[in-house]
Amino acid sequence: IRTIGVMTSGGDSPGMNAAIRAVARACSYYNVKCIGFYRGYQGMIENDYCELNARSVRNIISAGGTILKSARSEDFRTPEGRKKAAENLKKSDVDAMILIGGDGTFKGGKIFSEEHDIPVIGVPGTIDNDIAGTNFTIGYDTALNTVVEAIDKIRDTASSHDRLFFIEVMGRDAGFIALNSGVGAGAEEILIPEEDLGLDRLLESLKRSKRSGKSSSIVVVCEGDKIGKNVYELADYVTDNLPDYDVRVTVLGHMQRGGSPSCFDRTLASRLCVKAVELLLDGEENVMVGLLNNKIVATNFDEGLKEDHSINKELLRISDILSV
Ligand code: F6P
Repeated sequence: IRTIGVMTSGGDSPGMNAAIRAVARACSYYNVKCIGFYRGYQGMIENDYCELNARSVRNIISAGGTILKSARSEDFRTPEGRKKAAENLKKSDVDAMILIGGDGTFKGGKIFSEEHDIPVIGVPGTIDNDIAGTNFTIGYDTALNTVVEAIDKIRDTASSHDRLFFIEVMGRDAGFIALNSGVGAGAEEILIPEEDLGLDRLLESLKRSKRSGKSSSIVVVCEGDKIGKNVYELADYVTDNLPDYDVRVTVLGHMQRGGSPSCFDRTLASRLCVKAVELLLDGEENVMVGLLNNKIVATNFDEGLKEDHSINKELLRISDILSV
């Protein structure tokens, strides 16, 4: 392998720059040329790239976002789009690709490498942490800290005004961010898609909170929660049924994807990407790298993308006990 391409795709996440840096530096260390494609698969289709070397990635380890930009390419979903991308890689003598992104990125990469016989390695980068082949995805830890900091601030005002806040967090249909930030910020209730709390139990729990002397409360809601109402409808429902509560809603939104990555995410990105380059040089292909039980391991895409998100539901019990 003489040239490795790298790109970031899907929703950006803090630590993607640390990952790009690690790919470029590992390539430089092993005397391999490194090319960065802009806007994920779209850049591969449009042949929009730059050459990366050890110096061109200086000082990006601490930067949020991604210098290569990111996108969800519609064109790459078509066989024609993927063919164009493969032709461009061949034209630029790119022998293999490192794909930094989430499950959509990996699914696209798997089809692409099967169709065009180009080795790819997936590196999990998403705030959602919803990839089975790793205990942690790049960006998740930073997002958790961002969310906890935001909830702490909301609690200040909730407490001053004796209010109940519903705080919606990202995660798509995975409750990792909601569950862990909820426990970390001491939320009274946490609503996640993996466990249907039910509206009646929610009302009961809020009544209990009032009876136990709490004057303000925080309910963390994963955006993909299956309670059957969006966060605004939920707030209206609670207001209608528990008029004693003064209810407000905060949707944290895309702030969760920004900011300088935590030390954990920088280190994770560095470890995963050095491994990704080394695997390609060892002739490995079509796997994702991940951190499982504190070891960097390669898992084939099918295993790595299994629906089983293995969320730690024990945390719901802990949250119940601690919100007494
Ligand atoms: O996958 C990352 C993520 O931030 C999800 O948590 C969220 O549902 C989605 O991306 C938002 O996507 P967009 O940036 O396209 O609105």
